[in-house]
Amino acid sequence: MKFEEIAKQLANPSGKFGIDVALGMNTMNEFISKTTYELLKIRDTESVLEIGLGNGKFIKDILNSGNKISYTGIDLSRTMIIEAKKNNSEIIKSSFLDLIVADIEQMPFWEDTFNKICTINTIYFWKNPALALKEVYRVLANNGVFIIAYRPYIEGQTLNFTEYGFKEYKTKDLESLIMHSNFKIIKKTEQIEPPIKFNGKTHNLLSQYFILQKKTNPYDYM
Ligand SMILES: C[S@@+](CC[C@H](N)C(=O)[O-])C[C@H]1O[C@@H](n2cnc3c(N)ncnc32)[C@H](O)[C@@H]1O
Repeated sequence: MKFEEIAKQLANPSGKFGIDVALGMNTMNEFISKTTYELLKIRDTESVLEIGLGNGKFIKDILNSGNKISYTGIDLSRTMIIEAKKNNSEIIKSSFLDLIVADIEQMPFWEDTFNKICTINTIYFWKNPALALKEVYRVLANNGVFIIAYRPYIEGQTLNFTEYGFKEYKTKDLESLIMHSNFKIIKKTEQIEPPIKFNGKTHNLLSQYFILQKKTNPYDYM
């Protein structure tokens, strides 16, 4: 297996191989995705932004979290946005759904637009993490919630592809990044995921979820 090529596709899937890699991500990332959506505690009429949504396989889980949820998904990869549109062609007809090619560092949205924002397994690819956080801060509503879900670096537990172009974070690295931003950590939680098979081995991956709000927010997520 060419891990370097897979790593490139995970960062920005393109073409036929990118589509296949994204299908693999659906299997590997179903648990972390659905756990994140539950933690968002989405309520009726809220507007949700997912950054780096991939092929959009789980959008329906967000839309089913309440009535009249509006969902916006962005991804750097044009291939992924095309796939997400195909995979949700029926849902698009009857729901508030917007799928756009965009970079977390420069998003085409007004200030204070979204009640809930999440990003799952994308932090490894942010070129300028401080700028990315600043931009999420800008588009998040004042009492909104932002969740970063990722798999922290743990010695001896990484998957083979992460040595190619991934920036891996230990928990304390992410904590430090957030401390230097205008977000505060409301809650940090982690899960041992169900076993996943990759490259002939079974992995029990650990995923972490940082639940953030604006430092100025007087309301409580709980
Ligand atoms: C490893 S995949 C994860 C996809 C999905 N969130 C999941 O967990 O299965 C990373 C996704 O983030 C996208 N991505 C990477 N950097 C990004 C950026 N700066 N802004 C927006 N999306 C980005 C990639 O194109 C890719 O679709």
